[in-house]
Amino acid sequence: MLEVRPAVSEDLPALTEAFKQPHYFQERIARQPHLGVLFVAEHTDDTATRVAGAAFLRMLPAEEWELREHLRNVPILSHLQVAPQRRRQGVASAIMDAAEDYARAKGRARIALGVTLTNAAARRLYANRQYVEWDFGPVNAMVVEWDEAGRKHFGVERCQIMVKALPAPATAGFGKRPQMRLILA
Ligand SMILES: CC(C)(COP(=O)(O)OP(=O)(O)OC[C@H]1O[C@@H](n2cnc3c(N)ncnc32)[C@H](O)[C@@H]1OP(=O)(O)O)[C@@H](O)C(=O)NCCC(=O)NCCS
Repeated sequence: MLEVRPAVSEDLPALTEAFKQPHYFQERIARQPHLGVLFVAEHTDDTATRVAGAAFLRMLPAEEWELREHLRNVPILSHLQVAPQRRRQGVASAIMDAAEDYARAKGRARIALGVTLTNAAARRLYANRQYVEWDFGPVNAMVVEWDEAGRKHFGVERCQIMVKALPAPATAGFGKRPQMRLILA
């Protein structure tokens, strides 16, 4: 079974084991839900429960001025990642369902994300989910990396911005997703 829910500090060891970046996850969990929500996907079978994927939905205005200007009040999904052994099993889709439902429940009409120009797998995933490229071309998205000592390093990555219109909250429903629980804050 796959479960998607907001991460809590007890998830840190498992998140770090799956994806490294302890300082990143620590900061994101500490700053939710004000900054946004870190979604974690857990896969459970007969023997164990393991982290299968994660993503962060930023609810505050974006770092990049282009996004602040053209996508006011639009939450940004970032750092979507799925454990290599769990790919092509619907994990990213389940995380995105949860993030979109959360945004919609908070009254947001759209959701957006940035994808590097060469990431064909992610671009196909997003296009299949009705994300469309915006009209303003690629942007230099801010990338933050933490080193082992917890120091932040800032860089930029050329990204295409994709946006999806969300249906009104009244039409939201989880009933059509067998074998999956979505737990929203
Ligand atoms: C991109 C990524 C998040 C996809 O996660 P996933 O759990 O495998 O995705 P899903 O199983 O939900 O895929 C849903 C659909 O997306 C598309 N898709 C996903 N991965 C794909 C791939 N490698 N090649 C082509 N299409 C792909 C397919 O249409 C797929 O449906 P299908 O499996 O029925 O054909 C995962 O490959 C990953 O973690 N990559 C490294 C990190 C990354 O690139 N993150 C995105 C940053 S913008």
